[in-house]
Amino acid sequence: MPKIEVLIADDGAQTRENIRKILSLEDNIIIVGESSNGQETVKAAVETKPDVILMDVNMPVMNGIQATEIITLDLPETVVIIMSAEGDQEYLRKAMIAGARDFLVKPFTSDALITAINRVYEREKKRQIQEATLSKIGRKSKVISIYSPHDGVGKSMIATNLAVCLAKDFDQRVALVDLNLQFGDIDLMLNLTPERTLAGLISRYKELDADLMEQFLTEHKTGIKVLAAPPKPEYAETVTVYCVERVLETLKNNYSLIIVDTSSVLQDITLAALDVSNYIFLITTFDLPSLRNAKLCLEVMDALHYPREKIKLIMNRASGDMGIKMDDVSSFLDREIDIAIPSEGRIVVPSVNQGKPFILTDPQSDVSECIRRMARTILDADEEIEINEHNVLSKIKRAFLRRRA
Ligand SMILES: Nc1ncnc2c1ncn2[C@@H]1O[C@H](COP(=O)(O)OP(=O)(O)OP(=O)(O)O)[C@@H](O)[C@H]1O
Ligand SMILES: [Mg+2]
Repeated sequence: MPKIEVLIADDGAQTRENIRKILSLEDNIIIVGESSNGQETVKAAVETKPDVILMDVNMPVMNGIQATEIITLDLPETVVIIMSAEGDQEYLRKAMIAGARDFLVKPFTSDALITAINRVYEREKKRQIQEATLSKIGRKSKVISIYSPHDGVGKSMIATNLAVCLAKDFDQRVALVDLNLQFGDIDLMLNLTPERTLAGLISRYKELDADLMEQFLTEHKTGIKVLAAPPKPEYAETVTVYCVERVLETLKNNYSLIIVDTSSVLQDITLAALDVSNYIFLITTFDLPSLRNAKLCLEVMDALHYPREKIKLIMNRASGDMGIKMDDVSSFLDREIDIAIPSEGRIVVPSVNQGKPFILTDPQSDVSECIRRMARTILDADEEIEINEHNVLSKIKRAFLRRRA
């Protein structure tokens, strides 16, 4: 366990001595230096790069506030705790503007000192981890929607297993959003009991940031975070396109991959998700109504200027003699089937009913292998898909869809 390295900056030799005595009793703290004015403190800080500086305010040559300003700019990983006999708001304000993280009013107790050091240190470590994660995720976050114009073709089972697979097998930070607003069942498929859902965000989406977002997510044991659909169908209508856009944009701050399960109805909310998606997995099955709707869907997506490579075609339940050949399907749809998932009722049905994704319970099965291939499709893609602006095009889209109806 690394020790917290502390530098003591105070012009009073007696104060430094008292602090030294208190800190020497702590196993997890080590004193790496002492200084008696601001200038000396800056020099010592640069040399020792401590985790924490205990900084007196009133010191000769350069005061503690100025020294704090310089140090927090030059050494962003060092945190400063200001110590002052003056506890008034103006002092506190100046110290915080200078970059101090905490404030101790002299005389303070040993407990207050130790607690403050541990607290700022823990907070700083957490911040560093978050920053590292964010820069790792960077702008590379991708949104992937699972869509089909048909109900019951396996959208949710694919969304759930894909999300879990990306987190477990490929070590990704994954958020799973249930946009089947009326009858979402992602919670059931993962055996979760969400305390909060998208319904709670409806009135708060304008103030939404990454921290507030976290409060509405439910964690699955694999680490994926789920934004569950509203608990009752009547709430669905109150969810707006703007809310959905804001949710997906905000999730990009904390997650490298955002998987969206959608409803089969091609209305505004679904389109908002499809537009901002880097990839759409369009699910179809081997029956004529499903194939015809998949074709219509591809035409709509073409009219909406979705790049061809943004859409991956998934044939679900593709086993046995279906009376239609795969080649005929490809020529009918004018594109290759990207992945064909077999029908494996003995694995998929219990997995759905027990809320245990088969990618965890039957990782070697053919269905799991297909899900893994879908995951690789997302992760290995080197093409940079330009996402479609939703706001600009939404009016045109609505008109287009009305014309088709
Ligand atoms: N490859 C498969 N093999 C066997 N059964 C499957 C397969 N894919 C889906 N199923 C079955 O189909 C059912 C419907 O799947 P799912 O709920 O994922 O569909 P959906 O498209 O999300 O439906 P909805 O439109 O109602 O949201 C599941 O309960 C599952 O048992
Ligand atoms: Mg579903």
